[in-house]
Amino acid sequence: MTSRKNRPLIDLSCTERESNESDNVCFADLLQARLSRRRWLQGGAALAASLGLPAGLSACAERPLQPAGTGSSLLGFEAIPATAADAISVPPGYRTQTLLPWGTPLLPGADDYHADASDSAAQQALQVGSHHDGMHFFPIDVKTGGNSSTEGLLVMNHEYVDPAILHPEGPSGTPRPLAEAEKELAAHGNTIAHIRLNDQGEWQLVKNSRYNRRITGTTAMAIDGPLRGHDAMVTRYSQDGTATRGTLNNCSNGYTPWGTYLTCEENWAGCFVSRGEQLRGQKRYGIPYEDSYYHWHTATPAADHTRRFDATPVAAKAADDYRNEPNTFGWIVEIDPFDPDSTPVKHTALGRFAHEGIIFQPAQEGEPLVAYSGDDSRFEYIYKYVSHESYHASTAGPHLLQHGTLYVAVFHDDGRGEWRALDIDDADFQRRAAQAGVTFGDQGDVLVNTRLAADVAGATKMDRPEWGAVHPHSGEVYFTLTNNSKRTDDQLNAANPRAHNVHGHIIRWRETAGVAGDRFAWDVFWFGGEAGTAQPLFAKESDAASEISSPDGLCFDNDGRLWIETDMSSYGDQIGSRAFGNNGMYCADPHSGEVRRFLSGPMGCELTGIATTPDQSTLFVNIQHPGEGSEPGQFTSHWPDGGSARPRSATVAIRRADGGKVGA
Ligand code: FEO
Ligand code: CA
Repeated sequence: MTSRKNRPLIDLSCTERESNESDNVCFADLLQARLSRRRWLQGGAALAASLGLPAGLSACAERPLQPAGTGSSLLGFEAIPATAADAISVPPGYRTQTLLPWGTPLLPGADDYHADASDSAAQQALQVGSHHDGMHFFPIDVKTGGNSSTEGLLVMNHEYVDPAILHPEGPSGTPRPLAEAEKELAAHGNTIAHIRLNDQGEWQLVKNSRYNRRITGTTAMAIDGPLRGHDAMVTRYSQDGTATRGTLNNCSNGYTPWGTYLTCEENWAGCFVSRGEQLRGQKRYGIPYEDSYYHWHTATPAADHTRRFDATPVAAKAADDYRNEPNTFGWIVEIDPFDPDSTPVKHTALGRFAHEGIIFQPAQEGEPLVAYSGDDSRFEYIYKYVSHESYHASTAGPHLLQHGTLYVAVFHDDGRGEWRALDIDDADFQRRAAQAGVTFGDQGDVLVNTRLAADVAGATKMDRPEWGAVHPHSGEVYFTLTNNSKRTDDQLNAANPRAHNVHGHIIRWRETAGVAGDRFAWDVFWFGGEAGTAQPLFAKESDAASEISSPDGLCFDNDGRLWIETDMSSYGDQIGSRAFGNNGMYCADPHSGEVRRFLSGPMGCELTGIATTPDQSTLFVNIQHPGEGSEPGQFTSHWPDGGSARPRSATVAIRRADGGKVGA
């Protein structure tokens, strides 16, 4: 019997479990204070003087890089209008190709996708997973210094599943049939697909390639960094605390300078339950007491790989139950796509939270490696990682992600910011922890409780940090703050004049004490909202082509175009997506502030995942959850197969008819 009980109630791609009860200052409060100041501070020099900043810094952090109104040199396409069509729309002169939809046969023995979704769990593990998200294109020759734009490995995340679509008649009630739970686990994880461009300009899967691979919610994983072998990682499965099974809710991504893929675990907490008195590492992450998303822990007949999702202590010691299983999730996982036999590695030095993605500053020979990652929940934080060892191209590898310092961002209301170390040996951190009455046993204890450590460090609560992007020329970091519908009426102000920050904004910062340093200057690049929303940096308002709500995916191409993907929730307490058309992708010129709508997606989807070939002739994006909100047999989208078909997440390759750079 079909039951709606197991059906996720909201878009799991942005299901942030609000759990920050600390007293830390909200970023929205600081933004309001700062922009109120800006109203009477005229010009960069006056502002610089008021902030005590050098004029050069002011020029970067307080003014647009070029005066407003100079027009755009970067955007060479015709903006498209908003639309609610159940289709992909792109500007004139562009063509799109759908590839690798959910269910595509990937590995030997895989069946063709069954339109009634009757594929088994074992088949799903051989087919492309569901709900495509973060993605990267690795040129096939990148390991030998090449930059092929016609052949490579396309690696992507599969963030979650919609049981109403994944199963022929939707999900059964609880207890869950084991076969359904196993199919859902098999549809999570990652796909590595070897693809090649043919003479007709279409991308094709290279069948039987040794590189094609699926990673799922049950694939064996290693744990490294400060938590490797730590007491907090001991489970019945790994009694020495060095391993776990699977990666889940992989949202955005990253890639390393040495040619590996990083997949980031975001809303994993909702896969677990933990009854009774919860450990602080569970409560602060919002692990449910009773109802998990999928009720995998109830799977019948019982199996160890599903029972582990109940973290309630039931044995005398951790080595005999799964109280610590949630501690093995919330990490960034490294996958070597060029070694199909490699074991994915969870890098604990990068912190444990609802990771959206990870972005790097360009690696500099002889300098530390620097990366940023956001914690996508309302009122959570932005983090920075600095490797202990220096980067050298000849020896670069996973060791640079094993030993480093994790910092959290504090945004001061005068436009300055600081990175505060979450380091048990740091005197300032020790002082703040003591003041807060919080004790950490060792650095592993700090990292498994990253959110708590950031609380005591006094981090600034943000409006859901999603993707980031580093400008390829200036090194400025842009970050989407997608929305925060919990912003209340008594927080209204001139800078944020709307009840609830449902449209979000994009901030940016520049490091001011060296790339690896602990200080930065910040500003707001763009406010989301309807046409007419003021954009103070550019002395202009958004128009019909540039109205953005809920900016999420973010990426700079090599020329400095800023690609922005949106994720307006189509139900719940946010906004009706029809006001902006369907979710789409925009392109911005960060110098002029010009923004144009480039792509509109099918009904109910979000745009996510973005990757380019080195020559920028193909832009890959992912269409996630078309038909969100569908009931079994009653689909709100039929993309990409059309007719009455059930919707399928898929990748879209975008190319110009003349073969030129996308966006130019
Ligand atoms: Fe998976 Fe924050 O979106
Ligand atoms: Ca996202």
